[in-house]
Amino acid sequence: MNNLSEVTHIDNVKLSDDGTKVIIIDQTKLPNITEYLTLGTDKELYDAIYELKVRGAPAIGICAGYGIYILARQIKANDYNSFYEEFKAAKDYLNSSRPTAVNLSWALNRMEKVVTSHKEKSVKEIVSLLEVECKAIHEEDIKMCTAISEYGLSLIKDGDGILTHCNAGPLATSRYGTALGPLFLGKEHGMNFKVFSDETRPLLQGARLTSYELSKAGIDVTLICDNMASIVMKNGWIQACFVGCDRIAANGDAANKIGTSGVAILAKHYGIPFYVLGPTSTIDLSCKTGDDIEIELRDPNEIKEKFYKEPMALKEVKCYNPAFDVTDHSLITGIVTEKGICYPPFHESINALFQGKLCF
Ligand code: MRU
Repeated sequence: MNNLSEVTHIDNVKLSDDGTKVIIIDQTKLPNITEYLTLGTDKELYDAIYELKVRGAPAIGICAGYGIYILARQIKANDYNSFYEEFKAAKDYLNSSRPTAVNLSWALNRMEKVVTSHKEKSVKEIVSLLEVECKAIHEEDIKMCTAISEYGLSLIKDGDGILTHCNAGPLATSRYGTALGPLFLGKEHGMNFKVFSDETRPLLQGARLTSYELSKAGIDVTLICDNMASIVMKNGWIQACFVGCDRIAANGDAANKIGTSGVAILAKHYGIPFYVLGPTSTIDLSCKTGDDIEIELRDPNEIKEKFYKEPMALKEVKCYNPAFDVTDHSLITGIVTEKGICYPPFHESINALFQGKLCF
């Protein structure tokens, strides 16, 4: 991956040519090793999602769509009820791999609907329809990311300093990405931004993935520790914050990688616009507010030892390791989707978005 288009068009998740496996880039090995993994069983798919080998809300959804399709192909049953029973068990298993990114259940529910709305068809025909659906989920995400990138680019100008947290680039989505999409698109148009990438403790997505993608694409990126966001804002180096999202509630509260809400609080303090960028598939109207969003808790060893040569805390020390936090809607300047940009009051603009009435 050595130039802009190689970065923006990377195949991070795809179906194998014979349609029996899902192929992903192992994101846990980046930036040092680019290794592709071939996933063929329910356990391999579950582990790849749980261990963040494939990660980022939209990429998880795409992987789950392909994943449930290849598992459906493996079901031997010929009658609908037995087929559906096995399909549902596989779906529920994949769905339990990570709780916060709604794109996982969104994609799996879409695939299940294909099954339940074609009961009269043969199992073979249903499996063919599942193939069409999982490919459509991927194709749609490519289009959504492009549209989000265009809307996002309209919010910034050449030379701006942009702060981002975690990774919402091509590795986390398909093609340009969401929060990073406008920066890649701007680069294509000859624009130059100065991007500050939070390293994003504890799993270092900002260091390992965001600074890697931007740097390989020739975009000016400066890696900072999470606790340095305040000083770069105070220095006047940041004109906007762009972050991705894992689930957005109906009132605009947005769950994203742990630390995002702290960035939003700082941005408010320094009067810097704070934008959340994500596809409408990340908006979950069944969550009225952020309080309804389940926050994933992860292994304390990710804090104590994962990226160190030896443990940095005593074994007996307790750790609290939430993978996400919720940014209150009052801290968000705008939510950039493929259908347009929602502005406060978000409960109204998000509602208008789903009625097809919002036009940026
Ligand atoms: O735990 P991760 O790495 O899957 O968390 C990812 C994020 O929080 C991203 O910012 C979010 O999924 C948006 S990706 C376009």
